[in-house]
Amino acid sequence: MELLYEKSKPGRRASTLPSYDLPAAEVPADLRRSEPPRLPELAEPELVRHFTELSTRNFGIDTGFYPLGSCTMKHNPRVNERVVMLPGFKDLHPHQEEAGAQGALELMWRLQEILKEVAGLDACSLQPAAGSQGELTGLMLMRAYFEDIGQGDQRDTIITADTAHGTNPASVTMAGYKLEKVATDARGNLDVDDLRAKVNERTAGLMLTNPSTLGLFDENIEQVAKIFHDAGSLLYYDGANLNAVCGISRPGDMGFDIVHINLHKTFSQPHGGGGPGGGPIVVREKLEPFLPVPAVVKDGDAFRLEHDRPKSIGKVRGFTGPFGVFVRSYAYIRAYGPGLREMSETAVLNANYLLAKLRDAYDLPYDRLAMHEFVLSARTLKREHGITALDVAKRLMDYGYHPPTIYFPLVVPEALMIEPTETEPKERLDAFVEAMLAIAGEAAETPELLKEAPTSRPVRRLDEVKAAKRAVVKYGFEEHPDLSAEAGEVRQLEAQKGA
Ligand SMILES: Cc1ncc(COP(=O)(O)O)c(C=O)c1O
Repeated sequence: MELLYEKSKPGRRASTLPSYDLPAAEVPADLRRSEPPRLPELAEPELVRHFTELSTRNFGIDTGFYPLGSCTMKHNPRVNERVVMLPGFKDLHPHQEEAGAQGALELMWRLQEILKEVAGLDACSLQPAAGSQGELTGLMLMRAYFEDIGQGDQRDTIITADTAHGTNPASVTMAGYKLEKVATDARGNLDVDDLRAKVNERTAGLMLTNPSTLGLFDENIEQVAKIFHDAGSLLYYDGANLNAVCGISRPGDMGFDIVHINLHKTFSQPHGGGGPGGGPIVVREKLEPFLPVPAVVKDGDAFRLEHDRPKSIGKVRGFTGPFGVFVRSYAYIRAYGPGLREMSETAVLNANYLLAKLRDAYDLPYDRLAMHEFVLSARTLKREHGITALDVAKRLMDYGYHPPTIYFPLVVPEALMIEPTETEPKERLDAFVEAMLAIAGEAAETPELLKEAPTSRPVRRLDEVKAAKRAVVKYGFEEHPDLSAEAGEVRQLEAQKGA
């Protein structure tokens, strides 16, 4: 696809400006440009076509099935967008005095109350802007709590699972804790023996996703919670997989003391590729004094921000957090009402439906009832035909699907982690099954098709490291021909999409 600069022709314009009848502003000569800016010059139809074509080159949940495990790419109801665009929400200034922002404060307070109920815990802060920031905030709460009870120096270690999402160990390290990993047992649960050997008086806490990134609910969770509580440690629930259990089981009832909820996953919010997220944390009563300020509280019939909390860890995000995400999540939850449980039940049903259809064509490392996602392996395809999880993922793009998460969790070789979500109809699931089965057949019969894939997308297989580390995002003009050459090189890889 040609760049705007390559399409540019001198003198073409996309707009007509009225003639200016005010005296020209006096700009000192030394501040004036010596030559006009080098902007591309195009007429409006070409400009519109350019950006419209670009907009069709991204894959999104609105363009197709997006079973990216752990990311919960579900449909975002459009009514949420209407609600968030109401002027009272959209135009609200973060410095608006409380009396003039009662509706917004009430919405935040109500959302906190709902999240407390969903988590089965006692107090909530909406401030963190993502799951990963919720993790860091939760660990800061642990530190504040242990310092408060005089065990700050003693407790220096956090335990995570070897299936943990990368943000877990990163948050542990950022929070200044030592990291200890516990193995996964043959059924996909935390290895309780390994755990017992590692939990002691130095353990500040556990950080765990349940269901795990294998899509499996830990069958020993009560025992696990007891081991930590008996050692005086706390349990942190990484709520990224809440879409499996919402309205069915509650982290607080499982024994967790701190939970983050990824609003953008469970309660829908356009995300991925930089969309805003929300990672509220919900805690047991004894941790409430340490929550970030300001807290959103209800006083009689009014709502206000409470700043005076002497034990608080302070602020973790500007103002009161990502407000637009709160509005969308609240709208989403209210639309479901008591049917929120059905959301998770359908997500689990959809995952198990796919699993049942695909289990004979791919390896299934843990043969158990899946939750909202499941992990297959391309191990046998690799051994017998040299076809890897990456090849399967790339070929799926030719069939019109976003690939699943691959090579994660790390404990499964050639992992393919599939999360269909509850918003996909049976026909979509069936079509995806057909594609996955066809690909398994191609791996045996025409493996070169998989090695060459994708052939029908705007770009083929890129050097992903170079694309991430050396993205060419500016035009080189004649002074920097190397930039243009690099961009040209990338474009040579482009497939013949529509051309
Ligand atoms: C299991 C798990 N934990 C934590 C996170 C981090 O959440 P966020 O992307 O909101 O920072 C993710 C995100 O993908 C996840 O899948």
